[in-house]
Amino acid sequence: NKVVLAYSGGLDTSVIVPWLRENYGCDVVCFTADVGQGLGELEGLEAKAKASGASQLIIKDLKEEFVKDFIFPCLRAGAVYERKYLLGTSMARPLVLVFVQAMVDAAKEVGADAVSHGCTGKGNDQVRFELTFFALNPKLAVVAPWREWDIKGREDAIEYAKKHNVPVPVTKKSIYSRDRNLWHISHEGDILEDPANEPKEDMFVMTTNPEKAPDTPEYLEISFERGLPVSVNGKALSPAKLLEALNDAGARHGIGRVDMVENRLVGMKSRGVYETPGGTILSLAARELESLTLDRETMQMKDTMALKYAELVYAGRWFDPLRESLDAFMEKVTETTSGSVKLKLFKGSAVVASRTSPFSLYRQDISSFEEGSGIYNQGDAAGFIRLYGLPTRVRAMLLEK
Ligand code: ARG
Ligand code: SIN
Repeated sequence: NKVVLAYSGGLDTSVIVPWLRENYGCDVVCFTADVGQGLGELEGLEAKAKASGASQLIIKDLKEEFVKDFIFPCLRAGAVYERKYLLGTSMARPLVLVFVQAMVDAAKEVGADAVSHGCTGKGNDQVRFELTFFALNPKLAVVAPWREWDIKGREDAIEYAKKHNVPVPVTKKSIYSRDRNLWHISHEGDILEDPANEPKEDMFVMTTNPEKAPDTPEYLEISFERGLPVSVNGKALSPAKLLEALNDAGARHGIGRVDMVENRLVGMKSRGVYETPGGTILSLAARELESLTLDRETMQMKDTMALKYAELVYAGRWFDPLRESLDAFMEKVTETTSGSVKLKLFKGSAVVASRTSPFSLYRQDISSFEEGSGIYNQGDAAGFIRLYGLPTRVRAMLLEK
């Protein structure tokens, strides 16, 4: 029998290879996806996987699919988890999900009957992986070594590696638990475990310290078609290239740092710090455009549904019929979300400078302080206010008694 392991080349997944062979007597096929985690991680990975005892390493470049099929729908939906989290890992949900989808395909190609991952038993990622396995192939067996083995931490893992002649990865051991992709990087663990501690500046990986960002602001114009970003400063770019360009600009100006305490699916609270430079710019721009194109009630309903959407993505329920149905709504409701937004980036913040849309519902001739087109008659307001305020008057009369 054969197992496909979601492999990163780090210490944990390197140890999982011999552990699976020893405990399940199976052939281990490693799988990794390039979702923009930084190419360094992928170099020499095949040799490393084989040195750990894997029979092969499958690498898939999924950057464009990741952005187009997972990140952009979340962006279009306006999905934000618990007020702050741009689903970096929530949108990093998509990361895991694209990854898993390809992994399941890989399992089919190599004739595997089981899959395995290196997530701990305390986190969200295990749930996301396994719900996706269920959705895509309910027959696959899942092995989660962290929930089974006696290895307690880094020292145990190193010892196990040495005993099994597995080269201990030389990657600089980070004190933080990190997860990086094209959309974001997350930091958890170490001093962050006490929510009273401020993060140290040397923890940040993608973004410049806002205090050290350039003293001159930079303007960026982002154009959207039907709720999806298509160009930056007039230049059409593929989804992944567009995100890369915005990551560069946002990182330069220290944009997109979020520090939060969140509720994990398994019930516990956890503290994390995220860097989402390009994503922060994109979600701000999308909202600004919608302020022109969506009427009040439609916007309210979209925001309500975005909460649910974010919750589903966070929980790894991407393949739920509910998420698909919400996306049908999101596609329809953003039919008119086309146009351009200009943002000014400066020392950690992005503020809107201009927005335009061919579908704008904004009418200067109606809202102007100057006398307008005659569509709006100020006299009409008197009757409107009397009826609109009828319940208020009735209640006030009652209270008077
Ligand atoms: N708390 C975030 C989330 O659940 C980030 C998780 C990062 N994952 C990791 N394996 N380090 O989405
Ligand atoms: C893990 O526990 O594997 C990482 C954190 C998470 O999944 O939430």
